[in-house]
Amino acid sequence: MERLAGAASLEDLRGIEREFVGKEGSVSGLLAAIPTLSPDDRRVVGKGANLLKRDIQAGIDQKKGELEAAEIAAQRAGGDFDATLPGAPQTRGSLHPLTLVRREVEAIFVSMGYSVLDGPEVELDYYNFQALNIPADHPAREMQDTFYCDTQGNLVMRTQTSPVQIRAMERLKPPFRVIAPGRVFRNEEPDATHEHTFHQVEGLVVGEDITVGHLSGVLKGFLRQLFQKDIEVRLRPGYFPFVEPGFELDVRCPFCEEGCRVCKKTRWIEFCGCGMVHPRVLAAGGIDSEAWTGFAFGFGLDRLVMLRYGIDDLRHFMAGDLRFLEQF
Ligand code: PHE
Repeated sequence: MERLAGAASLEDLRGIEREFVGKEGSVSGLLAAIPTLSPDDRRVVGKGANLLKRDIQAGIDQKKGELEAAEIAAQRAGGDFDATLPGAPQTRGSLHPLTLVRREVEAIFVSMGYSVLDGPEVELDYYNFQALNIPADHPAREMQDTFYCDTQGNLVMRTQTSPVQIRAMERLKPPFRVIAPGRVFRNEEPDATHEHTFHQVEGLVVGEDITVGHLSGVLKGFLRQLFQKDIEVRLRPGYFPFVEPGFELDVRCPFCEEGCRVCKKTRWIEFCGCGMVHPRVLAAGGIDSEAWTGFAFGFGLDRLVMLRYGIDDLRHFMAGDLRFLEQF
């Protein structure tokens, strides 16, 4: 205890700690020797040694507090201490533009009575292709080259959010309406409009007497809320194996009256693939296609974000460059 009282620095204190209660310290030595004593001695010595260790440790801790307080007081008293200096600035994060727009899209569909679903990014070939009416070796697979994750070809990085259609049908009883936003992957050479990783929003409605009229009405309603004005749309025939009939839906360019860079002077912007759910797909989902019909759509979220904020290169989204991200 005398040694403790005399300790003038934290360094001294560490020395004392090592000498007495450290692994190789004398009190620890005492404790280690207990098993060699007779049972009666063991009890007495053990109790004494433990009490001793506790007292020494308590003394060290108390002295440590005193020394630390003294150190701070000394620093404060020094001439270069300025209590008015501002603290270290806290940097504030922000949400990724994809997250901002995804949340907006979800809120709009939720307001129209849709549920938001999620699905696995590593998906069974069955859900990503086969159940969507794309059999193995069918040429339609060429449209979406993916990354296979096992040697048997049973597992793929999903190339589209459409597999969630099947997962939804397996789980929900019609009628229902859902959207499924998420990350998708394709084996593509990246450029300003292509990436190996991008994002889609899938939509699926199954009900009685659902028609193409409902499909275009829903998408128009969605676009009106998103752009805060009426947006003209047009349907063109389009091929997707899981819908029949299938369409590409174009939207009137929201940025110009007579052609601009965004719409490549055409006044129309390709917005999504869509159509009436193919009877075989309903069957794969366990739904009776005589009793129920449905429509589905799938659009690129990245594309929408680019339109929204005037971003000209898709690769910014994944680059993790703070100069880009800080703007949102
Ligand atoms: N999954 C299709 C694609 O990625 C888009 C789509 C979804 C088309 C739903 C029709 C219906 O190209």
